[in-house]
Amino acid sequence: MKISGKTKVACLIGHPVEHSFSPYIHNFLAKEYNVDLRYTCFDVNPTDVKEALQGIKALGIIGSNVTIPHKIEVIPYLDEVERNAAIIGSVNTIKNHEGRLIGYNTDGVGFIKSVLDEGHILKDKHVMVLGAGGASRAVVVALAAHGVGKITICNNTLEKAESLAENVRSNFEEVEVNVMPLAVTSKDLKDVNFLINTTPLGMSSKKDLMPIDQNIVPPSDLVVCDIVYTPHDTKLLKWAMQRQLKVVHGIGMLINQAIASFEIWTGLEIDAYEKVYEILEL
Ligand code: ATR
Repeated sequence: MKISGKTKVACLIGHPVEHSFSPYIHNFLAKEYNVDLRYTCFDVNPTDVKEALQGIKALGIIGSNVTIPHKIEVIPYLDEVERNAAIIGSVNTIKNHEGRLIGYNTDGVGFIKSVLDEGHILKDKHVMVLGAGGASRAVVVALAAHGVGKITICNNTLEKAESLAENVRSNFEEVEVNVMPLAVTSKDLKDVNFLINTTPLGMSSKKDLMPIDQNIVPPSDLVVCDIVYTPHDTKLLKWAMQRQLKVVHGIGMLINQAIASFEIWTGLEIDAYEKVYEILEL
């Protein structure tokens, strides 16, 4: 499709942005669904976030993704923030709706979709989440909004886990939330249905690490999920597969958060997971 005077633009703002997969995904989706749209990346200095958002309005950019370190900083400059994004306290997607900037967070729902797509049921289940940083907040709030029964948050810095737990308790009264140190034992896992890693342990330079002791004996029906997607098979996922446990790879969250953003900008329903997976060649 040729660029014309009618071609719309969507973008990523972050710092840095060079390694982003988002341009591949969104430009592919635009072509696949015949949407006259191009997606590009802008490296925005932390001091220029307000001006960048004014630019989105002024230039009529239809939407934006937001990545590190701007996911929290953009919030004061938005006209509206969707409820779960407000509870998470971070925005990864902005829609320019007739000149009003609306903030969303698709990271958590992207994760949930990656689990559901594997045929699992999360409703009323006991979910253990390792880590209590930004990624964990998005995942934990989405799990609570989806209707899991119980969430156990494990983190070295217990205050961070407790603050996230309190946030979830006050917004989702029906969900039981507990916290414990990141020192999981076989006993702790006894009644856990899903174990989710949101820490960087297992990622690139930390690829030889995993967030739990490898001598732990897991329940045979435990589903192990990692939001780390490089490498594809993290040490934790390999450990799980060697024990015949079902696993959910981090690539699912990456692809599904992007698809959810594209759906918000265009109003289309996208069914292209497999095709996007193939073009990423991760
Ligand atoms: P992100 O936005 O990717 O979630 P983050 O906000 O820096 O990144 O959070 C990283 C999470 O991984 C935190 O829960 C952190 O634990 P602390 O809160 O105790 O710092 C956890 N984490 C990072 N490196 C870790 C390590 N080497 N061992 C255990 N936990 C680690």
